[in-house]
Amino acid sequence: MLKLQRVSASIAGITVLRDIDVSLPPGQLLAVVGRNGAGKTTLLRAIMGLLPISSGRITLDGIDLGGAPGHRRTALGIGYAPEDRVIYPTFTVEENLRLPCEVLGLPSQEISQRLDRVLDVVPQLAPMLARSGAALSGGQGKMAALGRALMVGTRFVLLDEPFQGLAPVLANQYAESLRRLHQSDPALCIMVTESNRSLMRDLPDATLTLERGELQSEAHETP
Ligand SMILES: Nc1ncnc2c1ncn2[C@@H]1O[C@H](COP(=O)(O)OP(=O)(O)OP(=O)(O)O)[C@@H](O)[C@H]1O
Ligand SMILES: [Mg+2]
Repeated sequence: MLKLQRVSASIAGITVLRDIDVSLPPGQLLAVVGRNGAGKTTLLRAIMGLLPISSGRITLDGIDLGGAPGHRRTALGIGYAPEDRVIYPTFTVEENLRLPCEVLGLPSQEISQRLDRVLDVVPQLAPMLARSGAALSGGQGKMAALGRALMVGTRFVLLDEPFQGLAPVLANQYAESLRRLHQSDPALCIMVTESNRSLMRDLPDATLTLERGELQSEAHETP
């Protein structure tokens, strides 16, 4: 289990996350809802080790992640799809998906098996594999970013505002992918941020609200 205990973080001297206490238990689809500037992206970046925390602890199975850099967290099975996607335009979609696993030094057979699993969950990616990253629409880029996060996120997948700006058809497909993922991998923990709660549909097992860097409520079962 991934646990944040009284985690605070600052950007340019301003406290952006304040005493965050949250657990990411296996098998949960956890929503973090908060308006623009609430600190959603900062929270995910702190979990990924892309932003130093100023106090508190982040532990995985009781072990302090301390200053472990992003690539070490990836190696621990934490996948992250940032808000701005970051699909490399000069690589094909398949290369974009394989890249983080190659960086981790995984054998190519293992990478191919993971890719097959990702395509089971996000079948829309199959016809895009040979295309260049530059040829994707914004929505297709979000699908590719989900696929890439799943390639390394064997235990935790962190998705930053995945539904934002998606056309309704793609949003439905994305939600279906999350549902399939949640069902097919019951131990996986999925954390999704959104500014608009309704975009999450009935997917979350629990929803937390982030307001000006503070978590407003304990996890509660959504009806
Ligand atoms: N690079 C930066 N420099 C200065 N302030 C920043 C920077 N990044 C974030 N902030 C500030 O930190 C706070 C939290 O930002 P964050 O991006 O985490 O919010 P968010 O909930 O992800 O917002 P959004 O819904 O717009 O994506 C905001 O007040 C923002 O202005
Ligand atoms: Mg954000």
